[in-house]
Formats: sequence, C-alpha cells, structure tokens
Amino acid sequence: MSTKTQQPTPRDGAHATLPGGPAPADVVDARAALERLDRVMSENVGLANEVLRSYEQLNLVFEVTHQIAEITDVAEIERILVGQIGRLIGADQVHVVASDDARRVYHTANGAAHQTEPSGPISETLRQKVAEARAARHTVASETPDGSLVVSPLSRMDSMDVVVAMREQVDRAFSAGDLMLIESMLSFGGKIIANCELHEKLRRMSFDVTRALVSAIDKKDNYTSGHSERVGFLARMIGERLGVSTVDLQWLEWSGILHDVGKIGIREEVLGKPGRLTEEEFAHIKEHPRMGYEILKPIAEFDPVLQGVLRHHENPDGTGYPDGLRGDEIPLFARIIHVADVFDALTSNRSYRAAFGVDQACDIIRKDSGSKLDTQATEAFLAALEQFRQDQPHTFAHMFVQGRGQ
Ligand SMILES: [Fe+2]
Repeated sequence: MSTKTQQPTPRDGAHATLPGGPAPADVVDARAALERLDRVMSENVGLANEVLRSYEQLNLVFEVTHQIAEITDVAEIERILVGQIGRLIGADQVHVVASDDARRVYHTANGAAHQTEPSGPISETLRQKVAEARAARHTVASETPDGSLVVSPLSRMDSMDVVVAMREQVDRAFSAGDLMLIESMLSFGGKIIANCELHEKLRRMSFDVTRALVSAIDKKDNYTSGHSERVGFLARMIGERLGVSTVDLQWLEWSGILHDVGKIGIREEVLGKPGRLTEEEFAHIKEHPRMGYEILKPIAEFDPVLQGVLRHHENPDGTGYPDGLRGDEIPLFARIIHVADVFDALTSNRSYRAAFGVDQACDIIRKDSGSKLDTQATEAFLAALEQFRQDQPHTFAHMFVQGRGQ
C-alpha cells in the first residue's frame, strides 16, 4: 500500500475553497469559463424566448391577415385590426383618430376590441403626437404622464387616420419590435380598408347610375317620380313579411327598382298615349319585361334580379305575359313585385285616369287576389301596408297619399 500523499486535482473543486493564498491559474480559468457559459446560456434562453415570441406574433399576423381579407365591412376590419394590435403589442387601449380629431376609442383584451365613447375631448399631448405622426407619416413612440404611447398612421382611400396604442403603466415602454409590428399591421390593414372603400364607392356609383337611369324611364312612362323606387320599397316590405332572407331582400328590392327597365325600348307615344291602345301597341308594351331581362342579363351581378324583371306581369291564372305562366311557375320575386307594382300604379295619376285612394286600391288588389295577383303575396302586402301606415303615418302619407300628381 502506497504511503504517498494523494494530490487533489482541479476536478475536485476543493482548490477554490483552500484557505490562504490565491487560487491556481487553471482554477481561475475554469471559473471564468463557467461564468461565460452561464452568460451564454441565459442569453440563449432570452433569444429562444424572443424567437418564440416573434413566432407567435407572426402567427397572429398571419391569422389576422386571413381574417380581414375575407371581410368587406370597413368598421369590422378596423375592430379586428385594433383587437389584434392590442394583443400583439400588449396595448390596453387603442384610439383611432380621424383628420378632424374625431376619435373612435377601443378597450382591448385577449384579441378583442370593445368600442367605447371617448371620455372627453382629445388631450393636447395626444393631439400633438397625432399631428407629428400624421406629418411625418411614420410611427413614433412616446412616454407621457398617462402612459406609454405608440402612434402610427393608417392610410385609407381618401384620408389618413392615426392609430394610438396605449399602455397605462408608464414603466412598460414599447420596444422597437412593437413599433415595427404595429407599422406593418397598419400598412397592410390600411391597404385592405382602402380596397374595401374603393369597392364600396364603385358599387354605390353604379347603383346611383342605375337609379338615375330608372328614374329617367319612370319619367318617360309618365309615372309620378319615384314609381320604381317605391315598387322596390314595397317589394322589400312584402318580402320581409314573407320571411325572405336578408341577402335576398336586397335583391328583391333591386329587382323591384329595375322591374320596368325594359320600357326604355318602348316607343314614347305608346307609353304616354292617353286613350285606348291598339292591339299592336299593347303587343309592343308587352315586350318590356323581356327587353328588361335582355338589358340586364349581360351584367353578371344582376343575375338574382332577372326573374323578377322577366315575370312581373305573369298572372297566377295564366292570363299574364310574356309566357302565360301559372301559379307557382311564377317565381316568388315576380309575384311580390307584381302586387307592389299594381298598388303603386293604382295610387298614381295616369294620363288616362286619376289616382285611386289607398283604400280603394287595396280593395281592387283584394278582388284580384288569386286570379291576377298571387294570394300569399297579396295577403302579406295588405298586412305589411297596414303596419306601415300605423307605424309611420307621415312617411306613408308622403309616399302614397300626398303630392302624387304628375
Ligand atoms: Fe311592368
């Protein structure tokens, strides 16, 4: 058995606590290496967390992109965008400030945004920050007594809003990453909003042009102005009573507005003739439903209104035109529009007779129910008209009683 004293090795770690004298150089190196390793490991954990956070943020951005790309309602897009901004950068409140300083204020939590009334006029500090972001057209962060702010422009079609995201706690400042994120979200969101606004503007423009055209046709037919609009209104009212879906109600109204568009192809002397029409003249007038159908058919968007236009003079007893369809062969839109059209025509002054009063017109319609007019549509019409008369007597009188002279 050896009596030689066993020397401790650096691995024992006992050197570090040896009393008296400096630690040997190799021990110092090991300690420094361990400290470096510790630092690197903590940095790695920090980086890993950062990567994870960025990944989650990218996922959310991807999610919101898909969410808002499917929506056409601008207010809804803004609400989703604001809710996700709140979640992504941890904002408690988001204000959207328009160019006239009008504000929409949202409280955000868990990706949702709830709009609330602004508690008072915009503060001077906020107004200044908003003006700076608007002028510079880029995102700025700021610390104010009310909390940390990030202020970023949101370009719309014809204007620029400014989005202010707030954290109520002043010790939680926004990072450069937060700024980049909100800027990207608003840049993307602004493009989608601008596209929707443009789409809506074009849609409204095309509808206005159509309405102007329809109004010109009403004049050509010597109807009191607004006949086609009123038929659209009444058709919608009947459709509501019959439980037609919201989407179909829109189309029903448009079908009513456009029902006589084919009269553009009818000779004016025939349309305005005060006396009895000859057989040839009546045959010519009877062409207008098909003419309207042919005019609108090339416009793909108007497909849902076509049957209402083509069939609005068909009678349930088969005596109507252009094809003498019977009963349920006649599409629902056309049966509804027919009732609305007859009522408005009866309560209008025509070149060959004075207007009937509302009750007299209703009696005529009641009498024709089941033969010239669809029973179900007639009943729904009479009930809905009575309801309208009770609920909105002034509008009712304005539409169907007063001022209906030519
Ligand atoms: Fe007609």
